[in-house]
Amino acid sequence: MSASTGSFVISIDQGTTSTRAVVMGQDGQVVATAQREHRQHFPRPGWVEHDPAEIWENTRELTGLALTRARLRPADVAAVGITNQRETTVLWDADTGRPVHRAIVWQDTRTDSMMNRLRADGHEDAVREKTGLPLASYFAAGKIAWTLEHVPEAAELAANGRLRAGTMDTWLLWNLTGGPDGGVHATDVTNASRTLLMDLTTLDWDSDLAAVFGIDPELAAAMLPRIHPSVGELGTISGPMSLAGIPVCGILGDQQAATFGQAAFSPGDVKNTYGTGCFLLQNTGTTTETSSHGLVTTVAYQVEDQPAHYALEGSVAVAGSLVQWLRDNLGLIRTSEEVEALAGSVEDNGGVYFVPAFSGLYAPHWRPDARGLIAGLTGYATAGHLARAAVEATAYQTRDVLEAVVADTGQRPEELRVDGGMTVNDDLMQFQADILGVPVVRPLQTETTAAGAAHAAGLSAGLWSGLDELAGLWQEDRRWEPGMDAARRDDLLEHWDRAVAKSMDWVQD
Ligand code: G3P
Repeated sequence: MSASTGSFVISIDQGTTSTRAVVMGQDGQVVATAQREHRQHFPRPGWVEHDPAEIWENTRELTGLALTRARLRPADVAAVGITNQRETTVLWDADTGRPVHRAIVWQDTRTDSMMNRLRADGHEDAVREKTGLPLASYFAAGKIAWTLEHVPEAAELAANGRLRAGTMDTWLLWNLTGGPDGGVHATDVTNASRTLLMDLTTLDWDSDLAAVFGIDPELAAAMLPRIHPSVGELGTISGPMSLAGIPVCGILGDQQAATFGQAAFSPGDVKNTYGTGCFLLQNTGTTTETSSHGLVTTVAYQVEDQPAHYALEGSVAVAGSLVQWLRDNLGLIRTSEEVEALAGSVEDNGGVYFVPAFSGLYAPHWRPDARGLIAGLTGYATAGHLARAAVEATAYQTRDVLEAVVADTGQRPEELRVDGGMTVNDDLMQFQADILGVPVVRPLQTETTAAGAAHAAGLSAGLWSGLDELAGLWQEDRRWEPGMDAARRDDLLEHWDRAVAKSMDWVQD
């Protein structure tokens, strides 16, 4: 536990499209925020990269800005928590702090052929058994292996013991705590559980797994961060930072942070976050459940000195980013917010279905070869129908992963707690409840991801007494009950299923 006397927490939420700093009080209320987008680099089809230096610079400035906006002094802050886009991987020189390559983002598909090869060589079952994950370009191991193979500087630094690797939490923690001057090189169990390199049971790196990806196990031990519980002190911020002296007391991958912020602490609790992608997690308690229906097994959180809690996860690659695509690539809307009105300008989807398999399809299909398609077009279809199909695609994809949860657990959840940008769309939330046949519940606290990291850090710093007190901070804002006629729902789902099957028929050379 930290010795700081402040009663506020700062949460750093390093997401796929932007970084945010959020200041939260002991009552769970957000006092101030600061946010900035970073550039998305698409050097080749399927490749997605971020500049780690840009993200670190944004983080440094935004934390100071948020503190100023909250009119607080550093001494008022008890702890900092970090949450982050998961799987996105960066490798850097420990002596200079310079990344050897841009960060390779979770959506990047450059290692698809590597994964196909490993699958053909028969590695999939053993890897899945240890890590809970399928062999997919989504996760971090392939990104590390690719960098070691293609960036000569990485191999040279590795040979000299100067190479460091990590997900974005690790990169930010190392920089926050001094960088080349003694920065802490650590990650938390939730982020480590997304690498394909950690054994879910031992919660430690596994040398056999490293070898599967062609990473020398000794090298892996030297360049991978220490794995730490999600709740617990990791180090102290130092250097020319407005937050110098404040301890970092919690790290959670962003979907696990949202689970924590939604107070989904009991086995069976389910949350769904509608961000760039869409990620549904069901808490399975302290045991790992194995999915037979395309879900991944992941660490939900671990409080220091306590066993880890696990979750089944349905990861959907494209949700909010499809709305951005309508805006940026088609020019159908000027702002993302406009999609609600455009989708609401038509009575129904007009027979149009949109499968956004831009990075292939993740859960529950795991088909990297799938490609996006718009099905059911007639001369009747308008921009409104296209927008509606795009928004509804998120609800259908959520239904696909929720049905996988039901098939795995034999139980339909009593309700689905939702958060993320798209949950402001009331029509989508009603449609979601209709399609799932499960009530959908939105909390008052919409900053759920940032709140989760703040709660984790504040819990460690003694601001809150335990998970019960955190659960008490959760308040319902609105609930949508399923109301659609069953015949209509079945008809919609049958068409959606057919469109998904067609997207998986699309074979790339
Ligand atoms: O696994 C990827 C996920 O962590 C990205 O989350 O919120 O940036 O879409 P988000």
